[in-house]
Amino acid sequence: MAERADGDSSTVIVWNKERERFETEDKEAFLQYHLRDVGLVAAAADSSDNPEQEKRKGAAVVMDMVHTYVPRSKRGMGLAALLCDAAFAHAHCHSMLVIPTCTYISDTYLPRNPAWNSLVYNGEPKSSM
Ligand code: COA
Repeated sequence: MAERADGDSSTVIVWNKERERFETEDKEAFLQYHLRDVGLVAAAADSSDNPEQEKRKGAAVVMDMVHTYVPRSKRGMGLAALLCDAAFAHAHCHSMLVIPTCTYISDTYLPRNPAWNSLVYNGEPKSSM
């Protein structure tokens, strides 16, 4: 569970593990992800310029963030960003990399929150180890 960090504590984001979602309490707004087994990241892969990738060498599961949805009446108020904040913080805490399949995440959220770029799965080849 994550709360707004901007002082408006009325919006709470909940992790729905069973449905692989981060969602508002009323479930109307959500970020849908799927856990994907990408195999072990090759130990020989050159990720020395990316400490997060380096730290996660060997991570087998990534969060594929496939869809973000906010009801029309609540758009433009940062709710999708709040869902992403919770999802990226979760990925970070669980040492998972992220695939930003959702265009809102790839085209809007990540450019506005570049600190999370280090979590983006770069598609390094699988290891046979
Ligand atoms: N791709 C990239 N950016 C998008 C976008 C999209 N499909 N839809 C909206 N945005 C941008 C807006 O242009 C806006 O930019 P601005 O701040 O410069 O005006 C910004 O996202 C708004 O951010 P935020 O308030 O955090 O988002 P939101 O709570 O309004 O929700 C969506 C954004 C995309 C989740 C919402 O518009 C929605 O549910 N759309 C229908 C489903 C959809 O297209 N999902 C994205 C593809 S998976």
